[in-house]
Amino acid sequence: MKQLRWSVRMRIASVGVSKFCFLFSLAFCGLLLLLIPTLQPPARQADLPQPRPQVRPAQTGPSHHARVPAVSVLTDSPTGLNRSSAGQGRITGTGVTRNSNHNPKRDSKRGSQPGGRGDGLSGFKFRDLLEFKDVFIAVKTTRKYHKSRLELLIQTWVSQAKEQTYIFTDSEDKELRMRTGVNIINTNCSAAHTRQALCCKMSVEYDKFIESQKKWFCHVDDDNYVIVPSLLRLLSSYHHSQDVYLGRPSLDHPIEAAERVKSDGSVSVKFWFATGGAGFCISRGLALKMSPWASLGNFISTAEKIRLPDDCTIGYIIEALLEVTLTHTHLFHSHLENLQKLPTDTVLEQVTLSYGGFENRRNVVSVVGGFSLTEDPTRFKTVHCLLYTDTEWCPKLKPRHKN
Ligand SMILES: *[C@@H]1O[C@H](CO)[C@@H](O)[C@H](O)[C@H]1NC(C)=O
Ligand SMILES: *[C@@H]1O[C@H](CO)[C@@H](O)[C@H](O)[C@H]1NC(C)=O
Repeated sequence: MKQLRWSVRMRIASVGVSKFCFLFSLAFCGLLLLLIPTLQPPARQADLPQPRPQVRPAQTGPSHHARVPAVSVLTDSPTGLNRSSAGQGRITGTGVTRNSNHNPKRDSKRGSQPGGRGDGLSGFKFRDLLEFKDVFIAVKTTRKYHKSRLELLIQTWVSQAKEQTYIFTDSEDKELRMRTGVNIINTNCSAAHTRQALCCKMSVEYDKFIESQKKWFCHVDDDNYVIVPSLLRLLSSYHHSQDVYLGRPSLDHPIEAAERVKSDGSVSVKFWFATGGAGFCISRGLALKMSPWASLGNFISTAEKIRLPDDCTIGYIIEALLEVTLTHTHLFHSHLENLQKLPTDTVLEQVTLSYGGFENRRNVVSVVGGFSLTEDPTRFKTVHCLLYTDTEWCPKLKPRHKN
């Protein structure tokens, strides 16, 4: 009797449970039905053009960057700029790191160029059958230096690249043009060594390059020696249609400036730039992309907006606006470095050389050749005679002079 009552109670209980289950299932199905419309749409939504909010919280509202000064470190004085310690460290080596100084492939890897060839020799030699006539070399000078600096360049490396070299100055010099047959362009810019005057010249250089249809734009100063074979070797490891910006930073960190082109200056940007005093090169592909900010006087207004010198403005347009990375190379040299530290047996493999510091301490590359320091204080003639031994004015005898 007791057992029967128990089993009846059990059955009632189990009926209760299944009832509960039934109700629960119903509720669950109902919920599912309700959810269906919200589960489906994602696929449809993806097809619709969605306005993407461009909100960058870090940049809204008052910012501590607002007071970033328009770069003040950038003067032409050696004391204003710190040399790239990375570059110096590699060059001061005792020979162990030497090879890395003049390996374009290694240099190209340092930048994040997609063109940083991983395909060995084929990429190096045959990718771009670069002819020297495809290179445009702009030399920036001023009237004051036509005699003291330009004549030396014309006598040395420019003589090997007359067709490719364009001298940008600020006055007419028919006599020099007639006598030497070099391309001299009067920019009509001011002869003052101001940011505006320098940017004015760079602006003309850019326009003349675009007009020239050449594949590579290289800019150097009037105290640079361009080792033409090295330059060609370096450029042939890239393609002119790629985005290539090659040069040597003068700082060991990127520069920071207020962004006044894409925004109102309350935001700052960081970018690398190649120091103009060591020379730099830009592929035609990249130069064309720079056009909105560089062509027909736009370069001057871009430089004015961000209040930076000419070489920084180039870096700004390329790195900050176009988001193309500078390929750092140690083959370019300015007078801001200690040029004596360049190992003698690597000098001829560099792309540009320079000289400076006559007043107090002489800063020149150390090479031994047919000319003494007094005869050839810049060492450019000596370098030239080592490169082009049959030049008529080079000493024919074995060098007897010692420095
Ligand atoms: C530049 O060098 C000087 C002296 O070596 C040093 O005091 C200063 O902090 C350096 N500046 C930068 C920006 O590296
Ligand atoms: C500079 O001025 C002269 C004379 O007006 C002109 O012929 C020349 O084209 C100008 N140079 C440039 C680069 O505009």
